[in-house]
Parts: sequence; C-alpha cells; structure tokens
Amino acid sequence: MNSSPFLARRGQGDGRKASMTTVDQVKQRLDIVDVVTRYVPLQKAGRNHRALCPFHQERTPSFYVFPQTQTWRCFGACATGGDVFAFIQRKEGLEFPEALRRLAQEAGVPLPQRTGPSPHLRLYSANQEAARFYQERLLSPEGEVAHRYLAGRGVSLDAIQAFLLGYSPTDPYALTRHLKGLGYAEEELEAAGLIRGDGREKHDQFRNRVMYPIRDLEGRVTGFGARQLDATPPKYLNTPRTPVFDKGGTLYGLDQAIEPIRRQGVGVIVEGYMDAISAHQHGFTNVVASMGTALTKEQMASLRRFSAAFVLALDPDAAGQAATLQRLEEAARSFQEVRRTSVARSARAGEIFAQPVQQFSLRVALLPQGRDPDQVVREDPQEWERLVSGAAPLLEYLLQVMTAQYDLTSPEGKAQAAERLVPLVYSHVENFVEQDRYFQRVADLLGVSRQVLEASIGAVRGQPRRPADSPQRRTAVSPFTLAQEDPLEEYALALLLQHPELGKVASGISPELFARPDNRELCKRWIECATIKELERDIDPLLASHLTTLLNKPLHSLEIPEREQAVREVFRRLQERRLREAKLQESQALTGEEVVEEGWEEQTLKTNEELLRLFRQQRRS
Ligand code: UTP
Ligand code: MN
Repeated sequence: MNSSPFLARRGQGDGRKASMTTVDQVKQRLDIVDVVTRYVPLQKAGRNHRALCPFHQERTPSFYVFPQTQTWRCFGACATGGDVFAFIQRKEGLEFPEALRRLAQEAGVPLPQRTGPSPHLRLYSANQEAARFYQERLLSPEGEVAHRYLAGRGVSLDAIQAFLLGYSPTDPYALTRHLKGLGYAEEELEAAGLIRGDGREKHDQFRNRVMYPIRDLEGRVTGFGARQLDATPPKYLNTPRTPVFDKGGTLYGLDQAIEPIRRQGVGVIVEGYMDAISAHQHGFTNVVASMGTALTKEQMASLRRFSAAFVLALDPDAAGQAATLQRLEEAARSFQEVRRTSVARSARAGEIFAQPVQQFSLRVALLPQGRDPDQVVREDPQEWERLVSGAAPLLEYLLQVMTAQYDLTSPEGKAQAAERLVPLVYSHVENFVEQDRYFQRVADLLGVSRQVLEASIGAVRGQPRRPADSPQRRTAVSPFTLAQEDPLEEYALALLLQHPELGKVASGISPELFARPDNRELCKRWIECATIKELERDIDPLLASHLTTLLNKPLHSLEIPEREQAVREVFRRLQERRLREAKLQESQALTGEEVVEEGWEEQTLKTNEELLRLFRQQRRS
C-alpha cells in the first residue's frame, strides 16, 4: 500500500532545519517496532503489530505498527498516525528537533554541533558556587553597603534567600581566588562568564555590585544580573552569552513562578529584577521579569508551556515611545509565531484547523503614571490585582496607541492610519474570524465603514500572484517533480494559494489530507504563514518551483460563490479519499487475524458511517 497517504514519510517536512540526510539516516537505522515496543507491548497481527493505543484509553487494541512502511496509526479515538518521529514527539511531548536529537543519539547518527551536557556541568556548578560566595559576602561585614541598600528598598531576608541575592566585593580577584581554590580552572571561569580580561590578566567580571543570580527552569544558576552601587556604569551588568546563559532566552524568576502560573492560569511579565522580587515578596508569585528587553520568541515559547494567558506590565512613560512600540510589535510577532506553531502542531496532529488550539493570549496592563511594578505591589496590592485583571489584548493596545499618532480629522490621516493598522492586523492575527473582528475594530477606530476600509486596502491580501511578483529563486530541481502528479491535491492547493480567503470556507483543512509529501508540506506552510508573501519568502528552495507552479496554475475563473463551492467540494473529496485509505489500512491490519474482536467492528463501522455521510453530502450539493 505504498500510495497510502498515511504511509508517506512525515519526518521530511519537519526536518527542514536538520539536513534531510540526518532524518533519513535515523529512519534507516532504527526499526519503529523496536522503538514503539519500549512504550507499549506489541502483539504480532499478520505482517503488522498491534497494541492498546498509548495515546488514549481503550480496552480493545486499535493501535497498529506497520514495519514495511515504518509507520504507526491509531484507528481508534485519536485517529492519528505517522512515522517514528511523530510517535516520539507525541509520546514524549517533544518538538521535532528534540525528537531528532534523541533518536539520532540512539541510532548513533552524529548531529552537527551537538555536545553532551557533561562539558557544561562545570559551568553550572561554577555559577552555583559563585552565587553562594556572593551571598556569603552580602551577609558578611564586607557586604554591608549592599545589605543596607536592599533593606532600604524593602527587600526581606526571606527574599534575599529565595532569590539567592548577593554582593560582589570590590577586590577584583575575590571570586577568582575563591573558585580557583575550589579547583576551577581559569578557562572554566572564563567560559562561565565569571572572569574576564585580556591576555594573562584575568579579573572578576562583577565588582561592588548587588548580585541577582539568574536561574534556568531547573533552578540551576546560569548567570547573573549585577546592579551598580556606586556610579560605575552600566546600571546593570549581565553575564555575557555563554554555553549555559542567553539573556534573550531566559526569564528572571521563572523557576519560582512556574507552579503559581500553572495554578492561577495566568502569568505576569515585568521588566526589572527588583520588580519581580518585590512582587514575589508580596505574594504575587506568578511574576517573571523579561530583564529589560523585548520579549523574544524563545521566552514566549518557554512561557507557553505553563499557561495560555500572560499579561505584560508596561510603564506608561515608556508606553508611548517609539522604541517601546517597536518592542511591543516585536513581542506581538514572537507571540504570533509561537501561537502559530501550536496551531500548526494541532493541525499536524490531525485536529481541525478551524478550531485552533486553546487561545494563547498576551495582554497589556498599563501601570499608573510614574510608578513601576515594584512600587505598586508594595504600596497598593489591590491596584496591582485590578491592573492585571483589566489588561487589554496586546493587539488592541497597539491599535489604540498607533491610531493616536494620526490625525483622523483628515481623509489623508485616515488613509495613512489604515495603511499602518491593517497590515498589523493581518500579520498578527491569522484566525480568519479574529481577523474579521479586528478589521471591524480598525474601521471603528478610524471612524469609517468596513466597505470604505476594505476598498482602501484591497491590495494587502489575497491578490493572485504573477510570476513577476515572485522573487528570484534558485532553480533547484525538486525531488518531487519526479513523483507522479496528483491533480486533485494540486487543484485544492492552487485554489487555496490563489484565493487564501477561501480557507475559511473549507473546514478541516489539514496537511494530513495530502498524500504527496510536497503538497502536505505546502499545506502545512500555508497554515503557518500569515500571507502568501511570507510563504514565498520562507519556502524551502526544494519546494519553491512547486509553489510557483501552483500559484500560476490556470484555474477556471469562477464567480465567488462557485469558487467557495469548489473549495468545499475538493476538500470533501480529499477527506473521502483519506477515509478510503484508512479502510484499506484497516483491512491490511486485519490480514492474518482469525478473530475480529469487538470494538474493532465499532471503529470500522464509524469509518463506514463517515464515508456514507460524505457521499450523502456530495449527492445533495
Ligand atoms: P530598570 O532600570 O527599570 O531597573 O531596568 P530595575 O530593575 O527597576 O532596577 P532598580 O529598581 O532601578 O534597582 C529594567 C531591567 O532592565 C535591565 C535589567 O534587567 C533591569 O532589571 N537592564 C537595565 C539592564 O540589563 N541593563 C541596564 O543597564 C539597565
Ligand atoms: Mn525599578
């Protein structure tokens, strides 16, 4: 059954970042049966193996592994399947790169630039020792200035201990001597970012500063923020980037905030170390600090794991500034990218695109004029609670702030504002329903009707492509051009690509519907990208010519209602085909079975019913 859509190798599309050969090598060396057996005891069933599905509760086995194609499928409630990567990802809750790393290691396939954790253990422990040393100094007479400073700011001894706060002495070799005494080599200390210097003269990185150790999710100290006590700039000095520390990928206080964020279902992001510490000390333990930079994709992705709702506490003085807007837009983009990945993941898992994953929301709370979170939580805890619960969605906030920058009394001003706001909506929201809602919001903000707004920005989205629009492409010969074509799939994709707005008509658009790997990958990318431009820009060169072909595939010029009918029809046919394939696999799975067990029949009947339903729909339309 090599033509089955379920048997096509799914890992290829996901393996874009790793080389294709790594993925293939891993698949060649590992037997899916061995891998799956570790999680579920498999029974032989003809040429195949079966088991109780590890992904849902059931009494009769409907989970099958097909050694010939090295794939698996659950014919039961989860109705999903894939290759060995898909299995490990689902079973272990991993993203593709993590799954690849694991399986590659197991298969003995070397990955580029991959080092084990062992060389870093010393960097973690050196940082841990340094934090301990700094704290001892803080509590010794030497640290009196720092201690007084913290006390003056209302930091309790409990907070000092919970956050492992410390003091770095003025002696430029204090830490170096201490850690060398513990057996650390100069190279290790330098690699950990604790000491620095040119040539042979190495000295401590931090001197005469209040030390804020920064910990990773597991609570290991990876680096430091260090606040000045005298006038030596900068105000805060950080550990430089090291193998274990990357400021942009870290959130201060997250290790302590994980449980509270989970419990409360919402997390709050402030800017400063002091703000986070103060919040925790006053019982607001769901607070983390972004350490003064725009929220990055990495930070957002890390937060996403603990809750779907976050609030950004924003200083109103900074709020109107261009730099802040830029950072917020950046945050919105990171946010959108992370949300998109979750949607794509759910689409890959066979869920319905029209019902995306639990909404990941990012809202903005404006602080009172002239006060930072540190002050608010200390002076008026109730106000803090009010601010957080009353936060506005980030996009709504951006739209408002930007609108305020244009003169809406003149038509020119409105046109300029529309040019700025509409693309913002399209690039930050990809759910069609939500897009529509925000589109209306923009019309309201500008005080124009939807029709007028639509007419003014018709060029933004959904224009058919012409080859002249397309950027120059490398003319790589696609491996897919050799495969036979699939007119139905290509018609479906061409419709979507040439009329992206039709996507909202066809429900259940999922990459799973496509049997050919190139079409499947294109569908996946179409779901992930907000615009066709973005899709064209990011497309893997191997798929570029296929994309161009589809974008230029001549389609009958249909009226809009007919076009919508066509797209519904073609996706129904793809679904029907998928169900037929599922039935084929069912019978293949049953080969060699003497007894058909209960439950099996039920599932088979369900597939039959779905097929019937499709046929009826088809006849009706
Ligand atoms: P703030 O200047 O608001 O600092 O910068 P803060 O934490 O409120 O400190 P206090 O209250 O003056 O003691 C916010 C965050 O930006 C980063 C730090 O993470 C800081 O907590 N920052 C700021 C730097 O990394 N370097 C700097 O020079 C300044
Ligand atoms: Mn502050």
